[in-house]
Amino acid sequence: MVNDQLIQTALHMRSKSRASYSNYTVGAAVETENGDIVGGCNVETSSYGLTCCAERVALFRAISEGHNAFKALSVASENGGMPCGACRQVIWELCGDIPVYICDSGGRIEKTTSATLLPNPFDESHLT
Ligand code: THU
Repeated sequence: MVNDQLIQTALHMRSKSRASYSNYTVGAAVETENGDIVGGCNVETSSYGLTCCAERVALFRAISEGHNAFKALSVASENGGMPCGACRQVIWELCGDIPVYICDSGGRIEKTTSATLLPNPFDESHLT
């Protein structure tokens, strides 16, 4: 079952986005193991490469608040854009295989998983 608060938070977090250069506002939300919902938005600066995506902001914020296990993630944008490659790696490493809900401004929700988004991942298992 889709956690409605997870979706609503990702949609709401678009309003917090700082996307002055791309004008592409993205919101994200992660559901923690104990059911908390933590949101994030994309943040851009004039040094474009320093941009941090909404997914990573949400996850890093959740980690910094003491959460270490995650059940689901949602991402919201105007047109249902998929997580970028860097975020796929971070989602996989921090969350493992969880459902990922991709939302657009028209209310459409596409369900995928972090394993589908990052097949054959490089991760900690290769470092032992
Ligand atoms: N963006 C995200 O926040 N998440 C993604 O997975 C894809 C891209 C942001 C980064 C940048 O601020 C804007 O969208 C355009 O690339």
